[in-house]
Amino acid sequence: MITSLTNAPAGPHAKELAQRAANRRNAKVGRTVMVKVQRCDGPGKASRWETFKVTTERGMNVISALQQIAGNPVTTDGKKTTPVVWNSGCLEEVCGACTMVINGKVRQSCSCLLDDYAPNEGDTITLEPMSKFPIIRDLWVDRERLFHNLRRVKAWVPIDGTYNLGPGPREHPKDQEIRYKMSECMSCGCCLEACPQFNLEADESKWDTSFIGAHAINQARLFNMHATGKELAMERLDALMGPGGVSDCGNAQNCVKVCPKSIPLTESIAAMGRAVTLASFTKFFRS
Ligand code: SF4
Ligand code: SF4
Ligand code: FES
Repeated sequence: MITSLTNAPAGPHAKELAQRAANRRNAKVGRTVMVKVQRCDGPGKASRWETFKVTTERGMNVISALQQIAGNPVTTDGKKTTPVVWNSGCLEEVCGACTMVINGKVRQSCSCLLDDYAPNEGDTITLEPMSKFPIIRDLWVDRERLFHNLRRVKAWVPIDGTYNLGPGPREHPKDQEIRYKMSECMSCGCCLEACPQFNLEADESKWDTSFIGAHAINQARLFNMHATGKELAMERLDALMGPGGVSDCGNAQNCVKVCPKSIPLTESIAAMGRAVTLASFTKFFRS
């Protein structure tokens, strides 16, 4: 039962942010940065490292570095290779598609500036795919299980859009404020990559009983607080009661530290832990 999680500080630590800002101030345009990439030609294939030289431009992010490499995919030891494959969409930290592990930390590559992470001439920046999802190729992973887990908790408002329903129910501004923060989840997968309870599971038949993840628990809370969404509240709690549900959370609190949207994930986990406990008691006494 999860009842004691505190609302640990979300997002990157202030000291780390200050260090990145200092790096940005001191970084010189036109320096050479080594981009070390973990490559993999496809599912089930062995991975290998390849390093490329990139000449920095002002405000260059990891995606622009990968684009520069794609223009001339030759490694530092002179080997001609294939362009690196990655995924991206919005390029403004909204879609979550470009998430990868950069210098050992999971984050979005579109908002990762080379000046922050490799500020000096000759510095190396390492890029790896997330390890909790199957690799499609190079830095591109298949996040389908993340979306599957959102379906497990019915993370939507059940409305029939075929006719005019009229104005929706009124909501208290305080609830709106809490829900707005939770709604900022972009399904990036950072919280799953950092979670010791969430592991790579290639066997899809095990997805429904493996740990659901902080993102889905948070979305269950979001929709259970919604005036119309709460129609499915019991079904969401049922999903979180079973194997792989909220009680499988080990309270490591890594999720809240890496969430790029600073969503209070541990607060959501604690809230849903209490709701699940209450619902199981109610079910027990009614049976
Ligand atoms: S608190 Fe720990 S175990 Fe629970 S979801 Fe977050 S990272 Fe995973
Ligand atoms: S909760 Fe945060 S870290 Fe997890 S998927 Fe959503 S935005 Fe990403
Ligand atoms: S491309 Fe959408 S978050 Fe980076």
